[in-house]
Amino acid sequence: MKLNIAVLPGDGIGPEIMKEGVKVMKVVADKFGHEFSFNEAICGAHAIDAVGDPFPEETFKTCMDADAVLFAAVGDPRFDNDPTAKVRPEQGLLAMRKKLGLFANVRPVATFDCLLHKSPLKDELLKGADFVVIRELTGGMYFGEKYQDNDKAYDTDIYTRPEIERILKVAFEFAMKRNKHLTVVDKANVLASSRLWRQIAKEMEPQYPEVTTDYMFIDNASMRVLTEPRFFDVIVTENTFGDILTDETSCITGSMGLQPSSSLGEHTPLFEPVHGSWPQAAGKNLANPVAQILSAAMLLEHFGLNEEGALVRKAVDASLDANVRTPEIQVEGGAQYGTKEVGQWIADYIAKA
Ligand code: IPM
Ligand code: MN
Repeated sequence: MKLNIAVLPGDGIGPEIMKEGVKVMKVVADKFGHEFSFNEAICGAHAIDAVGDPFPEETFKTCMDADAVLFAAVGDPRFDNDPTAKVRPEQGLLAMRKKLGLFANVRPVATFDCLLHKSPLKDELLKGADFVVIRELTGGMYFGEKYQDNDKAYDTDIYTRPEIERILKVAFEFAMKRNKHLTVVDKANVLASSRLWRQIAKEMEPQYPEVTTDYMFIDNASMRVLTEPRFFDVIVTENTFGDILTDETSCITGSMGLQPSSSLGEHTPLFEPVHGSWPQAAGKNLANPVAQILSAAMLLEHFGLNEEGALVRKAVDASLDANVRTPEIQVEGGAQYGTKEVGQWIADYIAKA
């Protein structure tokens, strides 16, 4: 298969983990006889420094011309600590999501048996937990009308019927492909936008009679994902709730550095780790490349390259079993592996398989 992939390493640890992601894609291409081409483009703080725009037109074009985007992370403390900054790296990410129409963010949550002890939660509660959070990605407070002066500020949590219908459709269809259990997470006891979500989900339920649909308030859901993670199969929720919930669910997997995601919608699909740019670790060969590598696996699977995706996952599992791990998940006293070493080990495993 021929695939033209836009590569957006971004900021912080982004470039380091991206190198490993691309390395793995190249090994897969060689092994299975695919032709993958990679076009790198700038975004985030890097792009602000270079051209004053965190998602420049040229980068947009590279993404639109590609079959898929492999994205790492954006963000820089220079901007976090300056509330007056006119442009921020995160605006690049939001512009990218909006301009590519990436309204459905798919964030799988799974456990690795050998890492159960790395979670702050009890092993017996986690074992076998396997669900996916579908986060709406181009609406809600992130994009609603905003206002800020010295005495007053607001963000508007706005959703329209078509926006809600299309994300619920994705979620119901995911549930059909999985264990046919959908949980709609909202705050319908307080928020009007949530009540519209709930109304539309109830209208759509009869179209998916095989799916068991339940409804849960976000406050309750944020407890239940930790106390009863095996209850869930597919969760669908609005943008802000999904953002918060998926940092929380990374505790189930054991490290933020292990969680990949895909963002799907109107134009080029995008694959990215759930974690951010971890600027403190940039250039230190410390960051876990696995979330980026698993994002590449999701990319492969998106194009029906299931055998390829499965081999990447097998290589990741093998690296964890062999204790070839970055420091945050290394066993006490275990050998130290950096970003590069973990990525290389996984690539070599694939090449030899
Ligand atoms: C994420 C990130 C982004 C978000 C930030 C960097 C804008 O936290 O992808 O979850 O809030 O969506
Ligand atoms: Mn987030």
